[in-house]
Amino acid sequence: MESYILVIDSGVGGLSILNELKRAYPNENFIYVLDNLNSPYGNKSKKKLTNLIINLIKKYVLEFNIKLIVFACNTITACTIKEVRKAFNILVVGTEPNIKALKNCGTGLVLATAATIRHSKVLKQNKTKNIALKPLKNIAKLLDEDFFNREELQASLTKQLKRYKTQTNIVLGCTHYYFLENEIKRAMQNSNLTFFTSIEGVVKRVGYILKSENLSTSNQKSGVVLVVTTKEDEKLIKNIKKIITFKHFVAI
Ligand code: DGL
Repeated sequence: MESYILVIDSGVGGLSILNELKRAYPNENFIYVLDNLNSPYGNKSKKKLTNLIINLIKKYVLEFNIKLIVFACNTITACTIKEVRKAFNILVVGTEPNIKALKNCGTGLVLATAATIRHSKVLKQNKTKNIALKPLKNIAKLLDEDFFNREELQASLTKQLKRYKTQTNIVLGCTHYYFLENEIKRAMQNSNLTFFTSIEGVVKRVGYILKSENLSTSNQKSGVVLVVTTKEDEKLIKNIKKIITFKHFVAI
């Protein structure tokens, strides 16, 4: 029976992580669940997200041989990973704001969803002073709505980041924002910003688990099964095809 790595996000954000996972582990099969039915995650409560994610995973565990779960999303990592780990006998790799990267910077700005800012363990444990936390409203949703037309998104970002123009070290604490470095530079009127993502950490962690748990696969016809949780959305699918290649598409 073919085995899969289940990758979850509310929208296109996690595709940034999926692309790197595919590159690093080309023999693996992935299911990317783009949960647009429940997006955005960032303004939901911890309880609601936990129920929602546990029910979502249950469906795939029944249908596919899932060997590893990757949360390509800071919000569900911050809000649900502990409960999800308790609920399933499957290892879960999360994505957390790369606050460690600010260690030698002295100052920095973390951009994330409201739920991540509220619940993230790494943000709570942070001891470095001079770190500003900014929850961004509506940005992930606007990116999902139209990946290739970002006018409204740019205007909103410019407004929301107005007070942060002195910052130069930016932690992208939401996977959607990985696609928005240029827009953030424009909003802050500074082309010399340094960005920190968590992609490398997640890819390494997945590799470590595949190896140490003996979960790697070879000789498969590998690829990505893309699942969107609402019924087919033509514009979204057309846009996603420009970001990744997938071998099957399923709408539920
Ligand atoms: N991409 C997500 C994250 O990393 C969540 C965006 C959302 O649905 O609000 O937090």
